[in-house]
Amino acid sequence: MRRCLCPGSFDPVTNGHLDVIERAASLFDEVVVGIGANESKKGLFSLDERIDLIEKACAHLPSVRVESFEGLLVDFARERGIPAVVKGLRAVTDFDYELQMAQMNYRLTGLETLFVATNPDYSFLSSSLVKEVASYGGDVAGLVPDVVLQRLHERLGRR
Ligand code: PNS
Repeated sequence: MRRCLCPGSFDPVTNGHLDVIERAASLFDEVVVGIGANESKKGLFSLDERIDLIEKACAHLPSVRVESFEGLLVDFARERGIPAVVKGLRAVTDFDYELQMAQMNYRLTGLETLFVATNPDYSFLSSSLVKEVASYGGDVAGLVPDVVLQRLHERLGRR
């Protein structure tokens, strides 16, 4: 069985993430979405909430499962026997950081990273920008799954 890992913070999952997960699911038999727990970065949504939101947004993708992890991505992948990561590249600005992480992960355990070119409809999209726009009452419909939109309204208040 061919398996891959889609890692990220997913605070919250956006339609850009979902596009990458869907494309990974079309290429691999199983996709594990790994949510990195970062103690120093308090998110808007808890890890359990992020898992719940991704599970709901991926309900149409039976080969996708969602887990959170602490520590190194390479250890999480190795413990599960997953040989490759799939990540989206939005623009050249993503490239330096993503390349650095990919090379470090390969150096550490041989974990491969495959990049997919983000759908241009979402190339400007990030979880941080979604949270900022939503917090000031801006409309983020169409940029996040409906379940996330609803949860953002509940958390930040609909204006
Ligand atoms: O959505 P993000 O913030 O780009 O996700 C980053 C994430 C969680 C994939 C990355 O920070 C990560 O892999 N964290 C786990 C810790 C780790 O392995 N760090 C070394 C990376 S070379």
